[in-house]
Amino acid sequence: MRLQDRLAAFFRARYQLGGLIEFTSHKTVPLHRHTIWYYWGGATLLLIGVQIASGLLLLLYYRPSAETAFESVRFLMTRVEFGWLVRSVHAWAANLAIFSAMVHLASTFFLKAYRPPRELTWVSGVCLLFLLMGFGFTGYLLPWNTLAFFATKVGTEIAGVVPYVGPLTQTLLRGGSDVGDLTLTRFFWLHIAVLPVGLLALMGLHLFMIQLQGMSKPLSVKDERSIPFFPNFFLRDLLVWVIVLGVILGLAVYWPATLGDKADPFAPTPVGIQPEWYFLWMFQTLKLIPGHLFGIEGELIAVASTTAAAGLLVLVPWLDQPARRGRSHWMVWAAGVLAMAYVIGTTGYAVWTSAHP
Ligand code: HEM
Repeated sequence: MRLQDRLAAFFRARYQLGGLIEFTSHKTVPLHRHTIWYYWGGATLLLIGVQIASGLLLLLYYRPSAETAFESVRFLMTRVEFGWLVRSVHAWAANLAIFSAMVHLASTFFLKAYRPPRELTWVSGVCLLFLLMGFGFTGYLLPWNTLAFFATKVGTEIAGVVPYVGPLTQTLLRGGSDVGDLTLTRFFWLHIAVLPVGLLALMGLHLFMIQLQGMSKPLSVKDERSIPFFPNFFLRDLLVWVIVLGVILGLAVYWPATLGDKADPFAPTPVGIQPEWYFLWMFQTLKLIPGHLFGIEGELIAVASTTAAAGLLVLVPWLDQPARRGRSHWMVWAAGVLAMAYVIGTTGYAVWTSAHP
């Protein structure tokens, strides 16, 4: 008997795998002109796998304290063989994971994959995107360089303007009144323990619901064709993964991550400090709103409207109700287009003004 048959017989004799094998052999994926969008969830999954693997390698050298963090990253970049590559892959794949999750969100939105019965798949997806942004925010501080230090200072300052819970959230994040050693250790544990547990649990739920319900097909598509998931779609997924790995490696080799100078908490905030690109639209919103509007602090209005937008995003499946779809359909669609235009427009503007001060 061949080795794989012997292995299959070993597991079949011990576990009731019949149902699982039956299920996977019948799993299909609809084939139509929008099928290309079905690859983005899988691409995000690969990028998260890359993050876990490269993150574990970084942990072999990283030392989380204000005294040692910068030096340990510099050691990794200059003295450890391929250390620069592992760090660059981690930095690029982080950006690509957020980009890919955003494209996945936009495609499931415009294909209306959030409609019943997939409301909770959508909600878990939105929460996954927020978690990924949390990874980005906490990870940014870990090298303890000037850019990271001041971006975190500004970011946590904004959290502080929320009435009632703001000051408490800010102190909890910072571990005191200012960004310091305790902020770094808190961000470190959030980044390598708390957020990963949340991400893995939520990702498991997201994927489980997709297995139970299968892939949706847009209403406008009349095409009835489909292909088996195993091996046909799975092999296509693998091809996308090879391309994504190539993109990550290309970016990491040609544009390796930089480190800059060690953070100096007593230095003045450098001019033109900016957060990562996925927070730029919020940052730009803060700048657009005047200091005071109708007697309310501008920062508070910006934070409140961003929170409201996040809440509306979670509620999309219920805003586009089947019973009222005739009218709500167009309103939800138009709101989605406007929101996307606003996010892309403000991000582009912020990038342009920082390149042409
Ligand atoms: C960590 C991030 C995420 C991972 C790893 C992930 C993974 C996946 C995978 C593998 C699929 C099946 C294939 C596909 O449609 O691409 C899927 C489907 C889906 N995802 Fe995600 N996803 C993530 C984030 C999101 C986000 C941000 C949203 C939007 C709010 C979302 C909403 C959905 C929906 C509604 C489906 C069902 C699509 C359908 O049935 O047509 N996911 N996801």
